[in-house]
Amino acid sequence: METRKSAPASTPADNKEERKAKVIEVLNKARAMELFAISQYMNQHYSLDAMDYGAMAANMKLIAIDEMRHAEMFAERVKELGGEPVAGSSDKIQNGQDVQTIFTFDANLEDDTVDIYNQFLLVCRDNGDSISVKLFEQVIAEEQTHFNHFDNVAGHIKTLGNVYLSKIAGTSSSTGGFSKGFVLSQSAA
Ligand SMILES: [Fe+2]
Ligand SMILES: [Fe+2]
Repeated sequence: METRKSAPASTPADNKEERKAKVIEVLNKARAMELFAISQYMNQHYSLDAMDYGAMAANMKLIAIDEMRHAEMFAERVKELGGEPVAGSSDKIQNGQDVQTIFTFDANLEDDTVDIYNQFLLVCRDNGDSISVKLFEQVIAEEQTHFNHFDNVAGHIKTLGNVYLSKIAGTSSSTGGFSKGFVLSQSAA
């Protein structure tokens, strides 16, 4: 007769710590993605400003500020769970993109981010962390707003080309003094 080996019993505390570690891991992966987005968007903000597309540069700066808020939200949750926020992202920033490339690139980046964060949300749900689930829900909704903006602009450049771009050229890149970012300034408008 075959004897079945039983799986080693783990204490509830171990399970809890394991579940927490899985949540911290996805929060940190999300934070690394935010840090990449911040650097990439700041870089594009300066490029667009240099190309004299002021209004585009201003919105890019506001979106970078949204990503900073996201990075902080993920870091704060990592801290609450007793983990350490990661230092940075290994992804390489793209330099010198032209205006069409910028908005197509960013729309794709946001689209991928929504998809990946939805996977991370499921990890949080499977490991019983409803607060992190809510955090991902909120951030995913904001990434969707970013996607819609980037996709709209990319579409305008594609269909209208220079007619559209000439309306942006020479506009102000000012975002005023202190700024709440893109999503919050849209909802206040
Ligand atoms: Fe973000
Ligand atoms: Fe975003």
